[in-house]
Amino acid sequence: MPQIIAVLDFGSQLTQVIARRIRECQVYSKIFHYATPAAKLREEGVIGIILSGGPQSVYAKTAPHPDRAIFELGVPILGICYGVQLMGHHLGGHVAHSRAREYGHGQLSIKKAGKLFAGLPKTLRIWNSHGDKLEKLPPGFVATAVSDNSPFAGIEDRKRGFYGIQFHPEVFHTERGGEMIRNFLVGICGAKQDWTTKDFIAQSVAGIREQVGKGRVLLGLSGGVDSSVAAALLHKAIGQQLTCVFVDNGLLRKGERAAVEKLYGDHFHIDLRVVDASKLFLQRLKGVTEPEQKRKIIGRTFVEVFEKSLKSIKGSAEFLAQGTLYPDVIESVSIQGNPASLIKTHHNVGGLPERMKLKLVEPLRQLFKDEVRRVGEALGLPKEVVWRQPFPGPGLGVRVMGEITAQNLEILRNADYVLQEEMMASGYYWKVWQSFCVFLPVQTVGVFGDERTYDYVIALRIVESTDAMTADWAKLPHEVLQKISSRITNEVRGVGRVVFDISSKPPATIEWE
Ligand code: XMP
Repeated sequence: MPQIIAVLDFGSQLTQVIARRIRECQVYSKIFHYATPAAKLREEGVIGIILSGGPQSVYAKTAPHPDRAIFELGVPILGICYGVQLMGHHLGGHVAHSRAREYGHGQLSIKKAGKLFAGLPKTLRIWNSHGDKLEKLPPGFVATAVSDNSPFAGIEDRKRGFYGIQFHPEVFHTERGGEMIRNFLVGICGAKQDWTTKDFIAQSVAGIREQVGKGRVLLGLSGGVDSSVAAALLHKAIGQQLTCVFVDNGLLRKGERAAVEKLYGDHFHIDLRVVDASKLFLQRLKGVTEPEQKRKIIGRTFVEVFEKSLKSIKGSAEFLAQGTLYPDVIESVSIQGNPASLIKTHHNVGGLPERMKLKLVEPLRQLFKDEVRRVGEALGLPKEVVWRQPFPGPGLGVRVMGEITAQNLEILRNADYVLQEEMMASGYYWKVWQSFCVFLPVQTVGVFGDERTYDYVIALRIVESTDAMTADWAKLPHEVLQKISSRITNEVRGVGRVVFDISSKPPATIEWE
């Protein structure tokens, strides 16, 4: 039986982040419903339990409570935020009710390092997000750390292996929070650190097989990282039971469709159906110049085409797979403000699974982007796919300013191809967040040979960023920029001028739209 750390989920938006921190320690964990019976946890081979945070007060009528018998299992327990209040509440302490929530940075002073804070400095910056707080310790517990707002920011009952912290060690804003979690897993629960990406893949494969049985699965491929990794994982699990659909919306980059056909068709031998809808998209976009309008048309047309093509190939398919990641479920894990406000509407295509009576398969739902990349690498996807730069869903549709025409798209595609070649050749492709061309429907005067020209402008948008929330223009060496510019003006017909966008985000956005 594998060793498992159980994370009991009391409704915090950060429960998955706890699971992620555990994976980072190469320890196996599973998230369980908060009320999972203790007997079931024992059966599963649980060697330690983490009680997650949660938005409720332990006194609320609808407050989630654990099976009290978990405190008799004889395994270590770590309560985080709401979790520590549950410990206080159930083990004979007292929790003070407060209507106001407390958010933000605080300072932790460690009074007694014990096993949980072993190896850490005496003071640390921490992140708080709680309403109620522990007011009286349960019998057997001592305070191990205090913070600006609580004398019980850290507590422990060493004999029983119960630990509690009022703040959130799982978020990035808490200094060395990852080490506190590792101390709990390894130092306190005695977990082995041998859980790897390969184990994740093996487990996902088993999970997909169990969910899907002999059923057929459809997957919309976009060519992006998430759907590519989902395709490779599903293919490994169910082989020919998987059919992938790739919609060519006419807004793809040069060679993109061919690359998808080559990788999934020729390399993986996946049953790939390519739907060419480029004419329809262009037709619908004719004469449209307003950015939001373009986006709406592209989005709506995509759903329509995708649904129609799924209907035509559905046959006996029962499942629709999606490369949904955890950050798609929750917009940001930085808990700036109320975590509950961070829930993003689910990415599925407008009720389509329900309409078509397809059940969802989302094998990447618990992972973060960098973890998905690691899974992709382990599945043998090429670096160009796994580490590719983000590309917006509406594709080149947000990069042709003004009307989107076949001619303008062709100019943009050719210019962008040159840019990507030079970014790859110089190695900067891998160092920046995004690098792309934007087509400007502005004609300017130039000379080419002896001829006067009146050609369009291409803007280079090359930015550095860590999360796309903010970005700065990349300070590329002049020689690289020079080569890109001269190659584009020389090789791409219709372009007379190349400009470099030196705006940061904010106030500018990354895409020009
Ligand atoms: P902005 O332009 O808002 O872009 O600074 C931030 C990041 O999001 C990408 N982006 C999109 N991605 N669908 C996507 O999947 C979209 O409609 C979309 N619009 C922008 C953009 O490329 C950048 O990485």
